[in-house]
Amino acid sequence: MLNNSLKCLLFLLSGVNFVNSFHSIADCLKVRQQIKTSSSPFTASTSLSAASPLSRRDAFGVGVATAVTLAGFVPSAAFADGGVGSSPSSPIIVVGAGGKTGKLVLEKLKSRGLYAVGLTRDGRDLGIGGTVSYKSGDVTKVDTLQEAFKGASGVVFTASASKKGGDAAHVDYLGVANTAKAALDNQVPRLVVVSSGAVTRPESIGFKITNVFGRIMDYKIAGEEVMRAAYASSGTSKSTYTVVRPGGLSDKPSTGAKGVEVSQGDILSAEIGREDVAEVTVAALLSPNAKDATIECYGSAGETMFGAATGASKLAKSLPEVPAKFVHRAETFEGLLEGVLNDKEMAQTGIVGGYKGTKIEELASL
Ligand SMILES: NC(=O)c1ccc[n+]([C@@H]2O[C@H](COP(=O)([O-])OP(=O)(O)OC[C@H]3O[C@@H](n4cnc5c(N)ncnc54)[C@H](OP(=O)(O)O)[C@@H]3O)[C@@H](O)[C@H]2O)c1
Repeated sequence: MLNNSLKCLLFLLSGVNFVNSFHSIADCLKVRQQIKTSSSPFTASTSLSAASPLSRRDAFGVGVATAVTLAGFVPSAAFADGGVGSSPSSPIIVVGAGGKTGKLVLEKLKSRGLYAVGLTRDGRDLGIGGTVSYKSGDVTKVDTLQEAFKGASGVVFTASASKKGGDAAHVDYLGVANTAKAALDNQVPRLVVVSSGAVTRPESIGFKITNVFGRIMDYKIAGEEVMRAAYASSGTSKSTYTVVRPGGLSDKPSTGAKGVEVSQGDILSAEIGREDVAEVTVAALLSPNAKDATIECYGSAGETMFGAATGASKLAKSLPEVPAKFVHRAETFEGLLEGVLNDKEMAQTGIVGGYKGTKIEELASL
């Protein structure tokens, strides 16, 4: 709440509507009430030093083909045949599985009858059961990933900086580079990296506020870029990637695909529940439409202001309007990915941000 307080304070002071992207208005109204009733509601946290109590996180479901179909989810033919996660010997590895989104991704994979391995630094059992097992792996140590990815049919990266796991440079940048290297070395068909909306938009308030936390936005875009470069120079078309950039995360229950919008260009955003991010991430893993592509996902209703849904909003006023063909709504999560352009195609559109991070160290120095 302290972090919410900070964002709301900035909102109330600046009048800039970044809140639409990363935070709910309802929380702001609660905070405004706190400001009225507390003598000094911000004293403990307005300084965003390393010692600040704020964290960045605060800032912002046999036989597989049969089970999958029975679960109401029909993977695209290219993936269903040969089967991503179709056997215990070719599982889907979820990196950062102990985190909130990582665990939800594992649960979604289990509910589809797909075999998955949750990777955490200590290899602990997360209690999901069924088709899910566990291994240890640290994204800052590529050797541990090489071992864990052997035979994998897919990898999902959901890790992020944490107190014990490493800072953003080591987890969101080096960690993504290590994950891409191990996925390519092991010829994993698809890597999905959960990144963040606004990473290419340093002019946006969402970027500015979030980047205060260990320059995490700079390291997230640097991680994306080093991953894309590794795939581009690999010379293989058998290993592909998808970047999923969510808006500000909440723990609200799934709204279903109808409550989610996918777009491209890193222009639109709104809050989204981690469960919906997990659904989009699994759909991206299984869909040929998301090959070598970058997508943003957020709640289609946007935020709720005075009981009315605002819709998604632009990250910054100066950004171009997003042509309708880059905005996707559908009845199913997989349907949200129909018509998505790959990164090369998007680069031709002129709406993609070119920001690649500031003061990014060489990987070798980390
Ligand atoms: N919060 C937001 O509003 C927001 C908005 C957009 C995007 N995102 C991104 O969405 C993703 C999911 O966020 P989340 O809040 O669900 O994640 P989370 O709960 O913060 O989980 C992150 C996980 O990464 C693990 N980790 C840290 N260092 C590691 C290492 N060296 N090796 C392996 N694992 C390591 C952590 O493990 P330990 O906890 O055990 O250290 C933790 O389980 C993240 O990439 C986040 O940056 C967040």
